Amino acid sequence: RRLLGTAGAAGAAGLVAGGAGGALGYAAAGTGGPALTSVGTGAVPFHGTHQAGITTPLQACGHLIAFDLATGAGRKEAAALLRRWSAAAEAMTQGRPPAGDNQVALDAGPASLTVTFGFGRSFFARTGLTDRIPAAFQPLPAFSSDALDPRRSDGDLWAQIGADDALVAFHALRVLQKEAAGTARVRWQMNGFNRTPGATARPMTARNLMGQVDGTNNPKPADPDFAAKVFVPDQGGDEAWLNGGSYAVVRRIRMLLDDWERLPLDRQEAVIGRRKSDGAPLSGGTETTPVDLGRFNPDGSLAIPGDAHVRVAAPASNGGAAMLRRPFSYHDGYDADGTPDAGLLFVCWQADPGNGFVKVQRKLDRGDGLSRFIRHESSALFAVPGGCGKGEYVGQRLLE
Ligand code: HEM
Repeated sequence: RRLLGTAGAAGAAGLVAGGAGGALGYAAAGTGGPALTSVGTGAVPFHGTHQAGITTPLQACGHLIAFDLATGAGRKEAAALLRRWSAAAEAMTQGRPPAGDNQVALDAGPASLTVTFGFGRSFFARTGLTDRIPAAFQPLPAFSSDALDPRRSDGDLWAQIGADDALVAFHALRVLQKEAAGTARVRWQMNGFNRTPGATARPMTARNLMGQVDGTNNPKPADPDFAAKVFVPDQGGDEAWLNGGSYAVVRRIRMLLDDWERLPLDRQEAVIGRRKSDGAPLSGGTETTPVDLGRFNPDGSLAIPGDAHVRVAAPASNGGAAMLRRPFSYHDGYDADGTPDAGLLFVCWQADPGNGFVKVQRKLDRGDGLSRFIRHESSALFAVPGGCGKGEYVGQRLLE
């Protein structure tokens, strides 16, 4: 697999004609052109200890979708749905059409498609499984800056779809929705995007819609404590079903781009604590130089201001609390007054929300320089089970 935060092999070489498409079943035979580019041929394994879509590099297109179980649907129906969803996701991520395919993605390879499933707290009451709710799975507290729309928050079931091709991503979204018919109805759905692999001359950390390099100081899969920060530790008893799993916090965070873009560059950089051009910390060095929170400027001021986002959010300021941020940008058009409805579909992954998002957001809520320029508009927390093996479905250890 490619490493998180890099744009993949296509980055340096541009689009490479690939012959491997035939093996994936979606080759465009006899068209005269290259069968598939390297973007199309990327296939992320569906089976494994963890679900795909957590440490998978950011894909260019994303869909988030939450469902509520239909009246009368309980544990048995939910189990059957997760079985259907897992089979369809396995097929599509490996480049095979799912059962009853509508052929929307027929000519494309899997394009690094991932489909990741999670359960909201309300799911457990609906399925008679409240005794299996893990102790760490507490509702998110209210924050003073919340401006949440309950209709676009929470949900019994959640799926995150990512792919490097928009048709492949939409195809997966539509297939999940159709498989859910009669068992679960869509509660909310959001669309996002990131940079396309190959768009930059070399693999680089993504930028968000404020123009900042975003994702630099994420935990890295190679870090010795990565798994402890991101994945739920193995345990027995009622919580064993979540072994190898994680918790996803989802927040639709609107960016107040008109206000932000009026701010001069040096003040924008002070808000984050990093340079906008290359993401280097204001304490010096390059993008990957560790942030020095104790450094002072010659005039005696802090190099990283007291309310800079990277200072307030840093594990050092939050008793070691950490999370893996894996967002998509979104743009849903303009309000009637011309204000962009754009920002971040903030998705972060952690072993324990209480020692990840909740701790950090509490601190940000009290004194983050960035908060004047953003607005949290929806919120959800999902327990995301570990991956499944061949012949199994996601969530089987909870639902069987
Ligand atoms: C770091 C942007 C919301 C947690 C950063 C960085 C940027 C950024 C540009 C510096 C580069 C990096 O290390 O990735 C944003 C924007 C947000 C937002 C635009 C909203 C639209 C949040 C939220 C949280 C959060 C809601 C968690 C509650 C963090 C953490 C870091 C970080 C933990 C790394 C700090 C460090 O250790 O250096 N963010 N962020 N951010 N952000 Fe955010």
